[in-house]
Amino acid sequence: MPDTPNQPVFLADYQPPPFLVESVALTFRLHPTATRVLSEIRFRRNPAASAGHDLRLDGEGLNLISAQIDGTALATRPDATGLTVAAADLPDGPFLWQSEVQIAPEGNTALEGLYMSNGMYCTQCEAEGFRKITYYPDRPDVMAPFRVRIESDLPVLLSNGNPVASGTGWAEWDDPHPKPSYLFALVAGNLVSTADSFTTIEGRNVALNIWVRPGDEGSTAYAMDALKRAMRWDEQVYGRAYDLDIFNIVAVDDFNMGAMENKGLNIFNSRYVLATPETATDADFASIERIIAHEYFHNWTGNRITCRDWFQLSLKEGLTVFRDQQFMGDMRSHAVKRIEDVLTLRARQFREDAGPLAHPVRPESYVEINNFYTATVYEKGAELIRMLRLLVGEDRYSAALDLYFSRHDGQACTIEDWIAVFEEAGGRDLSQFKRWYGQAGTPRVDVTEDWQDGQYTLTLRQHTAPTPGQPLKEPLLIPVAMGLIGQDGREIVPTQVLELDGPTLSVTFDDLPTRPVLSLLRGFSAPVVLHHAQSAKDRAILLAHDTDPFNRFEAGRSLARDMLQAMIVETTTRPDAEFIDALRIVLCDATLDPAFRALALRLPGQDELAAALHEAGHRPDPVAIFEMRQSALKTLAEALKPDLLQVAQMMETPGPFSASANDAGRRALRVQAVALLAQVDGGAAARASFARANTMTEQLGAWTALLDIGAGAQEGAEFYRRWEGDRLVLDKWFAAQIMHALPQNAVALTRTLTCHPRFDWKNPNRFRAVIGALGANAAGFHSPDGAGYHLVADWLLRLDGANPQAAARNSTVFETWRRYDGDRQTLLQAELQRMASHPGLSRDMGEMVGRMLGE
Ligand code: PHE
Ligand code: ZN
Repeated sequence: MPDTPNQPVFLADYQPPPFLVESVALTFRLHPTATRVLSEIRFRRNPAASAGHDLRLDGEGLNLISAQIDGTALATRPDATGLTVAAADLPDGPFLWQSEVQIAPEGNTALEGLYMSNGMYCTQCEAEGFRKITYYPDRPDVMAPFRVRIESDLPVLLSNGNPVASGTGWAEWDDPHPKPSYLFALVAGNLVSTADSFTTIEGRNVALNIWVRPGDEGSTAYAMDALKRAMRWDEQVYGRAYDLDIFNIVAVDDFNMGAMENKGLNIFNSRYVLATPETATDADFASIERIIAHEYFHNWTGNRITCRDWFQLSLKEGLTVFRDQQFMGDMRSHAVKRIEDVLTLRARQFREDAGPLAHPVRPESYVEINNFYTATVYEKGAELIRMLRLLVGEDRYSAALDLYFSRHDGQACTIEDWIAVFEEAGGRDLSQFKRWYGQAGTPRVDVTEDWQDGQYTLTLRQHTAPTPGQPLKEPLLIPVAMGLIGQDGREIVPTQVLELDGPTLSVTFDDLPTRPVLSLLRGFSAPVVLHHAQSAKDRAILLAHDTDPFNRFEAGRSLARDMLQAMIVETTTRPDAEFIDALRIVLCDATLDPAFRALALRLPGQDELAAALHEAGHRPDPVAIFEMRQSALKTLAEALKPDLLQVAQMMETPGPFSASANDAGRRALRVQAVALLAQVDGGAAARASFARANTMTEQLGAWTALLDIGAGAQEGAEFYRRWEGDRLVLDKWFAAQIMHALPQNAVALTRTLTCHPRFDWKNPNRFRAVIGALGANAAGFHSPDGAGYHLVADWLLRLDGANPQAAARNSTVFETWRRYDGDRQTLLQAELQRMASHPGLSRDMGEMVGRMLGE
């Protein structure tokens, strides 16, 4: 049956593939407008499927030149999504399918399938891009070894697996590991490589290459170093070694996502490969380290063990995110990494879970699978694994993973397979825990405390609000790590894990000397929202003394959030002295990691405040939030000025540049101090810092601090002159001035920059740096006249015509539309409706806009 476009696909409808593939041989005759792809595919019937099926192959936008089965030409006529060979026309036994198709990579602006970027050919096949290259059963549970021949005059010709032969104008590659088509990759271009090698724990000598455009080879050292550390780490921590003789990474400028784990040939958005101290911020270095590791880790969690179908996406993504989080914690600081991860989770996943796009970690249906590469599948998926590990313990977690690798190597698996290894190796029934995979929405946990005559009782209640398609929720198994702190700051009950598995749970602690201070959800042990009316005094005790670093941070964050919320709702309150004193203690505590202090000094962002206000039953006004936050920053800066000056000075990083967590933390704290000082010194410290900055972290930090106070024009011009020739830094130039524009200027500035000669809207990074940046300037985007909404919607529609996947990803800026006041809601809804009724809207955008409108 041909797929009908725009119709949902359901998990419940899964059927095993009627035909399996024994081997694939492909020949590419590359040409910008007329590439020929020849395929030879050996099929056999799947013994696990019923007999009598037609052969259905996926194929989109292909010009079919010829097709044969066992050498006999076929007169099949393709339809819009593929072609069908009737069962009656198929031989009884295995057979050989041969076809030749023509495609035009140069005109492929969707950046899916085979496309071109700066004269280089490259591919992106996940999730369903292979069908734009040739006819194939394009589904992850069909795995086969691939052999590839590339014919082209370009000097570097790459594909998956090991190189087998090459000559002038051609090269052949062989990938012996059976893989699904989404892991296929091909690259051809004028590229240069940084080469290195790695000897695996099994004694295999692996050639490593990072391929970039000529001129970029000076910016690959950090990525290479990260790769080698990731390879070693996966051996040491998970016992997983690399399994080919060569590992290639290619950087491309036009790429829809961060990077892609194609077997033996990872393809990266160049922003996650290229870095020098002058051009990349410390945050960029950390992203490179994380994403290089993430894609490498996929070799075992994703490639050797893959997904049965796309509903199981979190099987590889949630697990691989969890693994990259562990790796980053080991490389840097577990405490700081955890805080950063939770901040991202809340900013992206909680936001998604609270709105019209909420969906389970394992969705039940989709129209366009590209729309489900979400924070829920990735980040919440990783949280579920973190909880599993906490529930069974570290040793049993390792045993479960060993079982997973030994049992399922070479297979396409499901969440059920995953849960089963934890039930067996973890020795417990996890049927209730499994609900986390099927139930959308962030659980809310209400906390009440009772203290009487030395007896302390803690009561937890869970509740999950309805989400689209799921009006009724069941209680989840929520691991709640907690401890108790005495009034003097000493821990009186060390960490223990409570299991909240019903609607409520009460626990009692006897014989306590004084009323304890509750430290709940230590390490953020479950992805839930706590509602706990804890006093400012208790929070200050936790901020100063908690043994759990995450909860120390969290106590300060809650204080700040409550204070800002009160300022916004009551419009008169000023930041209270208690809060300022608590912050001063953290700021000046030289025993604390500077990175931690920098995080603690950051006030909750505008979107976090809008979400909190909405949760509390208000209709947030983004402009009011902006103004109150500014005034709080000013008050803070005034009160802390001498300390900030001193800290800024103490956090100098003399000596040669290092991207280490330690130096990065010092720079983060310095930049944070300088930014706060700008609020009260007219920008003097920021100007001085800009003038002598020798890292991008400091240069950009100083410039944006100036932008925040309505200054920085001269620095912006200087920044442009210096970095005009560097496309990645130019993205920062676009994004910074829009994100940090004063609310009343943001829309006009964005409009002006869309006319800038360097605004190349078809490049996903540049689009995000301009249009995405306006969405990130909350008060600017939500300008009361709706001009921001209109501008963004116009550009989304334009992008949709060229690159539906990128347009759909950027459309989530509208997902919070129901939060806001009536006038804004009306304006936002009108833009969503305008997009929904746009003629020729893609399936990607159609699904996103429809879901956001609640259709
Ligand atoms: N699988 C990639 C990753 O997370 C993400 C990706 C999805 C890239 C789809 C491109 C297209 O590592
Ligand atoms: Zn991934």
